[in-house]
Amino acid sequence: MDVILIGFMGSGKTTVSQLLGKLQNKPVLDLDQEIVNQAQMSIPEIFAQKGERYFRDLEHQVLKRTITQNGILATGGGAPMRMDNQKLIINSGAQVVFLQMTTASIVQRITAQAGERPIADHLDVDGLRALQQKRQPVYLHCANLVVQTDNRSPQEIAEQIIKEQK
Ligand code: S3P
Repeated sequence: MDVILIGFMGSGKTTVSQLLGKLQNKPVLDLDQEIVNQAQMSIPEIFAQKGERYFRDLEHQVLKRTITQNGILATGGGAPMRMDNQKLIINSGAQVVFLQMTTASIVQRITAQAGERPIADHLDVDGLRALQQKRQPVYLHCANLVVQTDNRSPQEIAEQIIKEQK
């Protein structure tokens, strides 16, 4: 992959990846969408019927299969948490971009899309903040570019990512 977008749920990974693909005329892949295609079930269905372990194993398989392709990859917020996934991401040679966002903005986004994210649906604001704080060092460890995304348009974010490319 040329660019891998990582970050917490609701930080705009999918939207920014699509815009980057358009601006750079590169293929775009969405890890969650690939998982849905492979399982032939929605993400909430996979969690409800097969459990998180099954989802995470599928997520790892799909990451391993797709990471060598060209283009832009939007990951799911939990993907970098597994050590084997961290290794794949860090060793991919891609520009790894952490889209960082405050908890307040995350909560706004996530509550507007209730029912789509099984991990977030049973967490209140404090629970989301705690999960975000737990994941933050892992995102920072994997990334070679950190972009603050609060109050910035996908266009501005995509332009900054392109500007930082070497
Ligand atoms: C998850 C994030 C989701 C999706 C799944 C689990 C997580 O992706 O992979 O619901 O553990 O943070 P988004 O970050 O695109 O919402």
